[in-house]
Amino acid sequence: MENGKTIEPSGLAQIKFDGDSPFELFQSWRKDAINTDLVLPDALTFATCNGDGKVTARTVRLRRIEPDGFVIMTDRRSRKARDLAEVPSGAMVFLWCYVDDEGRTVNRQVRVEGEVLELQPEQYQDLYDAEPLFCKIRSHICQQGKALTGNEHKRHHDEVYGPCNNEGLELPMPPHFVAYKLVANIMDFYYAYDELIGDRLLFVLDPDTKKWKYNHVYA
Ligand SMILES: Cc1cc2nc3c(=O)[nH]c(=O)nc-3n(C[C@H](O)[C@H](O)[C@H](O)COP(=O)(O)O)c2cc1C
Repeated sequence: MENGKTIEPSGLAQIKFDGDSPFELFQSWRKDAINTDLVLPDALTFATCNGDGKVTARTVRLRRIEPDGFVIMTDRRSRKARDLAEVPSGAMVFLWCYVDDEGRTVNRQVRVEGEVLELQPEQYQDLYDAEPLFCKIRSHICQQGKALTGNEHKRHHDEVYGPCNNEGLELPMPPHFVAYKLVANIMDFYYAYDELIGDRLLFVLDPDTKKWKYNHVYA
């Protein structure tokens, strides 16, 4: 208190990075997020756009990080797959908010933009194989966006689950199961904690040299 007035804290958060690739920074931030009690550190918001310019977004899970991009899995019959068939570009937003070891309330965001490629089944068969049974069943019975009664859905579930449970049947990867890779050409990192003003590091991939350039742009 000074002259009866509360002194409010303020300051600047700073992203320290001296590497070459934003993927190094992404991996380091993701590791920090995994080491907290965040329930789904690999959940991200994925935005797409259709040919009429109508934009939408939904949550999906990150399935794999490749040297040039981020892999997600979905259903070929979904709205996002239809959007990507019309406009093969997307944006991803990762949000990691948590209290770190030193008691600081950390806010980190990574925004990624780029072209979205459909992968070949042999490139994501391992991802399907690694899924737990309920996820494999979900991929067989859920037609994302199709209206259905609860009874129909339950009957379909039990028809698929029964042979898995009773006879140990393996569920093959269904043909509508698909994976996409967003090949990053922009990666924007935001970092703030407690009352500090956020810092941003904006990486842009040079299309000619294929090297990343970056600058602090501040929040
Ligand atoms: C935490 C969380 C994770 C999700 N992960 C996926 C995912 O990996 N793939 C997917 O297709 N849908 C996932 N969904 C469901 C999507 O958010 C969405 O409802 C569904 O994919 C249909 O989206 P669309 O109609 O825009 O294509 C997830 C939802 C939540 C809440």
